[in-house]
This record gives sequence, C-alpha cells and structure tokens, in this order.
Amino acid sequence: PDRQRYEAESAPATCDGTIDSNHPGFSGTGFCNGDNAVGAAAQFTVTPEGAGSATVAVRFANGADARPADVVVNGVTVGTVSFESTGAWSAWATKELTVPLNAGSNTIRLHPTTPAGLANIDYLDL
Ligand code: GCU
Ligand code: CA
Repeated sequence: PDRQRYEAESAPATCDGTIDSNHPGFSGTGFCNGDNAVGAAAQFTVTPEGAGSATVAVRFANGADARPADVVVNGVTVGTVSFESTGAWSAWATKELTVPLNAGSNTIRLHPTTPAGLANIDYLDL
C-alpha cells in the first residue's frame, strides 16, 4: 500500500514552536522548530488503513546533542526515540517507530523529555 506523508507544517499537525525554512533539504514548505523546552511537541494526526501495529518514519535534523522524546499515541506514552545528532541542522535523517494505532484518526505526539526540546521535525510517513 502507498504511504501517506504528513507534513509538520500542515494542519491538523501542530508545532509547539515555529515553522521554519532556514535549513535546506526539508520536504514541503518548512519544518517544526520546537521551542527548547521539555514538552514542546510536534503532533501529527494520522489515519491508518486499519487498526494494529504500524511502522511510521519520522524525518528530522539535529545539529546539536541527542534530543530524546517520548512517543505519545492518543495520549498514551508508547515508547521513546533518541533523535541523535545528524551532524548539522541541514542534514536530515529518518527514524522508524513502531506504534499501536486504532482504526480512524490517531494522534502521534513527539514529546521532548529534556530542556533542549525536540530535533527539527520535517514530516511523518505512515
Ligand atoms: C538553531 C537552529 C534551529 C534549532 C535550534 C535548536 O537555532 O537554527 O533550527 O531548532 O538551534 O537548538 O533547537
Ligand atoms: Ca528548536
């Protein structure tokens, strides 16, 4: 089945920060630059083809030290993700996460757990 791309800058996605476009290589029109704070999140609303465990790919860039985050699906923390350094803010990489999804609409929230906040987040593919 085809994958669906959910851009961080496109509603109903939300970004607890700014949508920026100053680091090249992103998809769409920008990326989420979250505030440098615990809990300054990027959130996606996704609809899978059916209920069950799904692999999603998150594209990110991190020109600093690792920026760990909780993965929160429909309000429940289901895992963690490291978002390690990619070497530069313009060096984009993809992380795969396995998440439990319901049929219909689901929220996937990337909730940073350190005061540095999130890596810059480009999109989520499902
Ligand atoms: C720099 C960079 C931003 C990034 C920020 C951060 O300001 O230009 O894109 O989000 O660092 O440390 O979070
Ligand atoms: Ca930031």
